[in-house]
Amino acid sequence: MDKKHMVSSLSGPRMNAVLYAARLTDFAFRMKPNSVAIIVANPERTRSNDTEFEFRQSSDLLYLTGFPEPEAALMVSKIGNKLTASLFVRPKDRAREIWTGIRHGVEGAKKSFVCDKAFTVDQFAREVASAIAKAETVYYKFGNCEHFDTQFDKVWKAEQRTLENPETIVHEMRLFKSERELDIMRHAGKIAAAAHSEAMRLCTPESTEYQLEAIIESVFRFNGSDFTAYNSIVAGGNNAVILHYTTNNDPLKDGDLMLIDAGCEYQGYASDITRGFPVNGKFTDAQRTIYQLVLDAQLEAIKVGVEGKTLSDVHEAASRVLRRGLFNLGIISKDVSTVAGERKALKAHMKAVVAAKKKDAKAPVEPVTLRSFFMHGTSHWLGLDVHDVGTGGTRDPRGKKRKLAPGMVFTVEPGLYFDKNDKRVPKQFRGIGVRIEDDVAVIPGGQEILSAGAPKEIDDIERLMAEGRNLRLSGQRFQSIH
Ligand code: GLY
Ligand code: MN
Ligand code: MN
Repeated sequence: MDKKHMVSSLSGPRMNAVLYAARLTDFAFRMKPNSVAIIVANPERTRSNDTEFEFRQSSDLLYLTGFPEPEAALMVSKIGNKLTASLFVRPKDRAREIWTGIRHGVEGAKKSFVCDKAFTVDQFAREVASAIAKAETVYYKFGNCEHFDTQFDKVWKAEQRTLENPETIVHEMRLFKSERELDIMRHAGKIAAAAHSEAMRLCTPESTEYQLEAIIESVFRFNGSDFTAYNSIVAGGNNAVILHYTTNNDPLKDGDLMLIDAGCEYQGYASDITRGFPVNGKFTDAQRTIYQLVLDAQLEAIKVGVEGKTLSDVHEAASRVLRRGLFNLGIISKDVSTVAGERKALKAHMKAVVAAKKKDAKAPVEPVTLRSFFMHGTSHWLGLDVHDVGTGGTRDPRGKKRKLAPGMVFTVEPGLYFDKNDKRVPKQFRGIGVRIEDDVAVIPGGQEILSAGAPKEIDDIERLMAEGRNLRLSGQRFQSIH
């Protein structure tokens, strides 16, 4: 593997005890007086018979503690002016540890994680009962882990305290990334960008989707990322019009366009990048036209995504460019080429749908608008979850439109998807699916593109692919790096 596609994992940024302590203190500060909050681990999930999916900690517990094991919980109690953070963990168990790895246990939890007390998880119900007996409010979110829900429910029913959702606090905190979190996310972005570059460099018309997937994910792991942040989408030709295509098993075809949407998770934080490129290294005129239109929309949308703007502003900026472009290509009509025109047409359509339903008649065909070819949003928050949380989504806790502010990280990912059988589209564009996605951090006075290392200008992509072709002609091939 080319050295320039390596990102040293040893030098990668990490969280530390001081930062976790600060988070816990901030969390406790935001809790109501005389309250107790409980955050639980994800359950383990069976993959087949007696093997499990690789365990991934619940993002909220990871955020507040960094504790990586299943069957764990955090309890924060704030009674009077006394704050106590307790961790519940699996006990040490030599027999189990021989099979599934070392457990931190109670002593390890106290030593290596930020907490005042640590207990074995079988003491959860007893300790929770004792803590909430002194509290007026309890924060707990049902639905994350049945095992904890059952135990908590019994205790809580006996005490009948006001129940609040801890996510309203944690998710608001998680929306604003600290400098260290941004460093970690920069690193995740760098690794994922290197992976996309490597896939471009090594792709040939003889490659398959799964080989490109293998290249992408080997760069992730080679550089010390923990997981893929979501199932990689590696789609050749018409597969690119399936938004969440993850089969990734088809051979590539000379003349087709690739779409790869793949991101790694580093220290728990996601990157999320989409790139498109021609399988044979040269865009056709039709591919170039659609690709450049999506790129123009994405660049315009990124420009808009600065402090004070909203994610709706970002979406509208991308949509405006795409609408104009589709009209110029003769794909949508003039009357739906503006926001107002599109809104009017879709409103009239909805009315016609309702009227048809009342009469039990056939539903009318939806008018051809931007929505016919760009059917998803432009942005989502990014962080510990790829579709990251943020209280109230695009509204803040007071119900106001959430304005972009330093520390927020979001994606910008417009796309156009023309199915190979879609007769509404000129023939030369059918079978082309393009999405271009970058990760943007709002920083004081500007923004930073965390995924900038992955080429997206047509000339840069073609240059990188030509470089790869020349290396192959001179006898260099992709080598297994393990
Ligand atoms: N990879 C999923 C997304 O872009 O939202
Ligand atoms: Mn995304
Ligand atoms: Mn994506």
